[in-house]
Amino acid sequence: MEPTTETLRSPAAFFDALAGDYDVMTDIGARLVRERPFFHVLVDRYDLRTAIDVGTGTGVHAVLMAQLGVRVTAVDISEEMLRIARLNASRYHVRVRTLRADVASVGETVSGLFDAAVCLGNTLVHLHRTEDLDRAFTGFRRFVQRNGVVVIQILNYAAIPADREVILSSREREGAVFERSYRPNGAMLEFRTTIRRGMRTEQRSVLHRPWTSNELVEALDRSGFRSTALFGGIDLKPFDASVSSDLLLISTAVNL
Ligand SMILES: C[S@@+](CC[C@H](N)C(=O)[O-])C[C@H]1O[C@@H](n2cnc3c(N)ncnc32)[C@H](O)[C@@H]1O
Repeated sequence: MEPTTETLRSPAAFFDALAGDYDVMTDIGARLVRERPFFHVLVDRYDLRTAIDVGTGTGVHAVLMAQLGVRVTAVDISEEMLRIARLNASRYHVRVRTLRADVASVGETVSGLFDAAVCLGNTLVHLHRTEDLDRAFTGFRRFVQRNGVVVIQILNYAAIPADREVILSSREREGAVFERSYRPNGAMLEFRTTIRRGMRTEQRSVLHRPWTSNELVEALDRSGFRSTALFGGIDLKPFDASVSSDLLLISTAVNL
């Protein structure tokens, strides 16, 4: 068997390397069906015409919003993920503008006002410091117009053990086995993807900061987002720290 290779990478390097496998690993076709009702609710409830999708990855949410008539700007730090997001936009016959930027400084780069900023799929855990989270949210507040919304989703870390290795998922797709796991690394969690194809195994890791609901709500509050509602996922069931698999927040932009 070939030796396993593993290094701790920056988010950009981690996702550049994973990009070619991401849509198979996450089953983009199934996600486009499963996540569509949530975006229907968002677009209707908040009358969204424009949105920015921060940490768009291969663009699943950008495509969903564009299919519902929203003008979307899709932002990511990984050039490879953005390349596939552009391919997906053309594959699903929608227009999406893409922009390479860091979530921490995107507010200093983007011009114009948007009805919403969405930052889903556990993107924010790639920011490790409170200063970076504050800078990101302050930036979001610059381009989300007053009474617009920010929509954030990360895993519910209150329900994930932080003292031992945990396998989050293991799935077989298109002849490969994709495993996602966590292991403790100081105050952080080391997120590892293992891809097995025949005799070949690839492993890559990146550090995640397991933000709590309070940390996110307080950072939103400091940045000019209020009335934050907490949900347990895109089914919009109430958040329950002991059982919810996800933490989803919807918060409204106010004048400070
Ligand atoms: C787990 S993926 C989620 C992608 C997409 N939102 C989804 O739900 O499929 C996280 C994405 O965040 C991006 N990302 C990580 N750190 C970032 C940063 N500092 N600035 C911008 N994007 C970042 C990665 O490149 C990756 O595409």
